[in-house]
Formats: sequence, C-alpha cells, structure tokens
Amino acid sequence: MEYLEIEGGKPLRGSVNISGAKNAAFPILSAALLMKGKMHIKNVPQILDVQHFLEILKEIGVYVERTDSGVILDTRGDISSKIKQSETHSLRGTQTLFGALIARNGKAFLPSLGGCNIGSRPIDLHIKGLRQLGANVDWSEGYLNGSADKLKGNSVYLDFPSVGATENLIIASVFAKGDTVIENGAREPEIRNLIDFLNKAGANIKMNGSGIIRIKGVKELSPVDFEIMPDRIEASTYLIMGAITGGDLAVNGVNVRDFEPVVMKLKEAGAIVDVKDNGSTVHISANDRLNAVDIKTLPYPGFPTDAQPQMMALLSISKGSSVITETIFENRFKAAKELRKMGADIKIENNMAFIKGVEKLQGATVEAGDLRGGAALITAGLAASGTTKLLNVFHVDRGYEHIEKKLQLLGGRVQRKTKNEI
Ligand code: UD1
Repeated sequence: MEYLEIEGGKPLRGSVNISGAKNAAFPILSAALLMKGKMHIKNVPQILDVQHFLEILKEIGVYVERTDSGVILDTRGDISSKIKQSETHSLRGTQTLFGALIARNGKAFLPSLGGCNIGSRPIDLHIKGLRQLGANVDWSEGYLNGSADKLKGNSVYLDFPSVGATENLIIASVFAKGDTVIENGAREPEIRNLIDFLNKAGANIKMNGSGIIRIKGVKELSPVDFEIMPDRIEASTYLIMGAITGGDLAVNGVNVRDFEPVVMKLKEAGAIVDVKDNGSTVHISANDRLNAVDIKTLPYPGFPTDAQPQMMALLSISKGSSVITETIFENRFKAAKELRKMGADIKIENNMAFIKGVEKLQGATVEAGDLRGGAALITAGLAASGTTKLLNVFHVDRGYEHIEKKLQLLGGRVQRKTKNEI
C-alpha cells in the first residue's frame, strides 16, 4: 500500500498550476451523454475518481480517449442504461449519470452511491425532484431505478440547495417538455460551468444569482468542445499549505471569484494575499503563525465545506482559539483525531470544532479517512517538525492530481513510498 512521507518545516515557494475541477468534471461528462457525437472535453483532472468515472463511461458504451489534459468522447451508438455495481464505481460523481441516462434513454439503473464517508448523504432531493418532472424513481435490489417516457417541465423547490440534486435536475430537464424552474438551487461555480457547457451545446438554461434556474426544454443538443473550470478546492488547498508553512507561493490558472471566502478567511487570519492577472493568479505569503479565525461552512457563496479540514489543520497552529461550525456534512471532522496525534488541541462537539492553536505540530503516522481530511493531514505534515507518514493516500489521489509532484516543485519534501519501505 502506498503512503506519503512528509518532512515538515520547509516553507513552500514558487507557483503551482491548478488542474481542472473534479466536481465540475462529473456533471459535465455525464451531460455529454445528452449529445450524440464526438467532443473534446479539456482540462479534465488526472485523478483516481475521474479515471474510475471514465471506466464507467467506457463500460456503458461511450468511446473514451485520454488526451494530454482532456478527454475525447464519442457518444454515438447505444449507451447502456445500467451502471454495474463495483467497488471502483462507488463514487459520488456517478449521481449525475442518473439524470443523464433518463434524459437520453428514458431509463436508468444506478447502484448505491459512494464518495467520501462524511455523512449519511441521502439522495431524497434528487428522487423527489425527478418525480416532480414525471419520472418513476424507486429503489429495487440495491439499485436506484428511474424511468420516464418523456419528462415534463415543472417547478421544483429544493428543501436544501444540494449540488448533486441541482445538477441532476438541470441535466434531466434539458429535453423535458415545457419549462422547468428549480427554486433554491445550488449556486456553486461547478453548476454555472455545467450550464455553460449545456448552453454551448444548444440548451436553454438561465440561472440568476439567487438560486433560481429556468430551463426551457429543447429537442436536441449538438456535441461541443469545452474546457472545464479550474479546481477551486485544489487552489484553496495550496493557498492554505502556503500559509501554514510560512511560505510564499502563487496558484495559477484559477478564478479567484470561485474561492473568495477562503481568500477572505486567510487574509483575516493575517496572510498577505495578492490577486493578479484579473483574478487568474493568487499569491500568498505569511511570515509568522497566523491568527485564530472562526469559520462556518455554508452552501456557495459561503465558506466551502471541502476546504474546511485543511483550514482546521492551519488553525491548529494559529495564535489563539478558533471555532469551526460545519453545517453541510455531519461527519466532516475525521481529520481532528489524526491531527491530535500530531499534537493539535481540537475538541469536537456535535457539528463544532473548538481549536486551541499550539505552537508547533510534531510529525506522526496518520491515516487519511477521506479526501479532504487527507489533504488536511498533508497540510499539517508540511508544517510539523519531523516526519509525517500519511497512510491511505488513495483517498487523496481520488481528488488531487500529482500532489507530491506539485508539492516537490514548491520545495516540499514529500515522497510517495510503498508500505514495505516503512
Ligand atoms: C457535492 C460535492 C462535494 C461537496 C458538496 C457540498 C461532488 C461530486 N461532490 O457533493 O465535494 O462537499 O457538493 O458542496 O460534486 N442532501 C440531502 N438530500 C439529497 C442531497 C443532499 O439531504 O438528496 C444533503 C447532504 O446529506 C448534505 C447536503 O445536502 O448534508 C449537501 O449535499 P450536496 O450539496 O448534495 O453534496 P453532493 O452533491 O453530495
């Protein structure tokens, strides 16, 4: 089994290119099933979850060819409506294949969803919304079964602005008869990216700034080439790593408006942040330990839950006491237990983390329990004294492209090793 060995204490310096967004790649690759033809989707990150997703696309009949940083898809021909049950297929990103297959084939069979174990992650909002569009949706023998002769536009109110439910409903309603209105939809930048892709292909979707999304059904879409947006969580992670190591680094190829709350919190904590090139480069430096800040995760444009564990690592060595309130997922503090092994003083009560900043963390052998928690432990290891061994690194590989190579380019002392080298 592979693990990362991190020699802490070296400030990260230089610049790092940010890859395409994991969470935009899944809905966009799913939505490509609404088109019949060849298309080049660019800036698709080379991460484990995307690799598994592309294998699923191949299995259901899509022609898939990796290019340098993208994927050529050919969606002509028969596409199977059934996604098979398999361990590697167990990723959250497959949720949008459900809406896409109903829209394309009139039916879809999806095995139970996977993804990070960060909460119960129900999909009731997806099911309720799709039923309101006229689909029959039920669980049977471990599969979510969906069918519809022709979906009909309707007004759908989401009790919570779920990212996945909003994406599924947008994709499903592109060919629906009449107009669909999604009220209280998610406003994450990945949703905007999905809408841009679909509109480029001929869909008629409008989203206002307050979470109302209007979709006028169209008869067909034409295949188009498209570039996936930069990954705002990867960018946020490297900025936090720059700050915790007292480094001086820039993230390139980003859109700062996508992760403004992270930038604002880093500034509030005392980091020096400089936005350049019309928001496509963000530079960070920190000379000293940062100050404590309180954080509350919220749907976009609030502070992203996916950057919360990395901030927890940063706050564990900040000056003073911080409180993190997690409002999106109920089990998102798993990294706290591992950070404590490194000397952090963190208490968890329900959905709150109470952090007393300590002067220094010490390297330890720690285990990634989920993707962002793993990134948090690397963040901590980079600042700790001594050596940190991060086990279960596959969690991190699910969502970060070439993480140790990018860190090495920034001067980080990070090596990938296999278990018999421990
Ligand atoms: C997506 C992202 C994930 C991110 C999350 C919130 C992908 C592949 N993953 O996950 O990285 O952390 O958005 O920004 O894009 N909920 C329900 N019923 C539903 C759907 C969701 O109760 O039918 C709840 C969830 O349990 C959770 C909250 O809504 O508490 C947010 O979930 P959602 O926005 O749907 O997240 P995902 O799409 O799963």
